Amino acid sequence: MSILITGVSGFLGSHVARLLEERRRPFTGFYNMKKPDIPAEQLDLFDRKEVLQRLEELQPSAILHLAAAASPNWCELHPKESQVINVDVPIALANYAREAGIPFLFTSTDLVFDGQSAPYDEEWAPSPICTYGMQKAAAEQGVLLACPEAAVVRLPLLYGWGNNFLKQWLESLKAGQPLPAFVDEFRSPAYVQDAAHGLLMLLDLGAAGFFHLGGPEPASRFDMATHIARAFGIDERLVQPARQADVAMPAPRPADVSLSSERAYALGYQPRGMEEALGELGGM
Ligand SMILES: NC(=O)c1ccc[n+]([C@@H]2O[C@H](COP(=O)([O-])OP(=O)(O)OC[C@H]3O[C@@H](n4cnc5c(N)ncnc54)[C@H](OP(=O)(O)O)[C@@H]3O)[C@@H](O)[C@H]2O)c1
Repeated sequence: MSILITGVSGFLGSHVARLLEERRRPFTGFYNMKKPDIPAEQLDLFDRKEVLQRLEELQPSAILHLAAAASPNWCELHPKESQVINVDVPIALANYAREAGIPFLFTSTDLVFDGQSAPYDEEWAPSPICTYGMQKAAAEQGVLLACPEAAVVRLPLLYGWGNNFLKQWLESLKAGQPLPAFVDEFRSPAYVQDAAHGLLMLLDLGAAGFFHLGGPEPASRFDMATHIARAFGIDERLVQPARQADVAMPAPRPADVSLSSERAYALGYQPRGMEEALGELGGM
């Protein structure tokens, strides 16, 4: 029996899969459109009948449900399609996990909060201001109703090698282009490898209920971009302060969704700060 990872072709899923490979633990990964460079099966999670059939054949020992429409702007523009993958699918999988009696871990987001009362611990009630956040908050409730033993893990903005903002920012900075970065949007950024370790830690401990896997320090997008420029020996003056109001975006962004992650820290979660993590990523 192996662990099932949905969204194995995604930014987080690919790091979780590599960690399981390193630990020589069997897993099966599902992807949809992007075939990853690790063994994985194509399965569109919209196809409920096919999914149930495959689950019956696989009999996974646990489900790490990472697949999602994870772009807030895309969800704002495509509320119906994103509702299916972000709400209906996790609830259906949580139902399967309860019936099968296996652990279920669902990844949610810091964007379930409105940004007015940071830092947010696990007890704060969600108050989302964008469609993505609303969908994830609805899924959290639905998942726990369907499978009360599930772990709902809220993640902050993640960075690392892969398809995420770090790559785009570095390309721009290395090309000597000015990089506008918000001074009025705060998160608790976490290194994706630390988040992957945190997820597997929670799975192995049989954790149930809400957990936050924030990074150790709050940072604005401007702070993050400055850290990146410094770590990679690029002129920090290329990073230019910008405000959310300067840029038209489909999804509104909360001002400060920094997370308090004490519950996970007490269990052994140890995220690195940006300086250390960026150093490992090949900076200075
Ligand atoms: N990255 C972050 O900073 C961040 C922050 C907070 C929370 N999260 C949460 O963490 C989880 C992982 O995020 P991520 O950044 O790794 O997302 P991502 O890179 O956008 O990956 C999304 C994954 O979902 C899969 N997927 C989407 N629709 C599917 C469908 N219909 N059927 C099967 N698979 C489907 C994609 O498959 P294909 O690519 O093969 O189509 C991909 O593997 C999500 O739950 C997200 O909400 C992420």
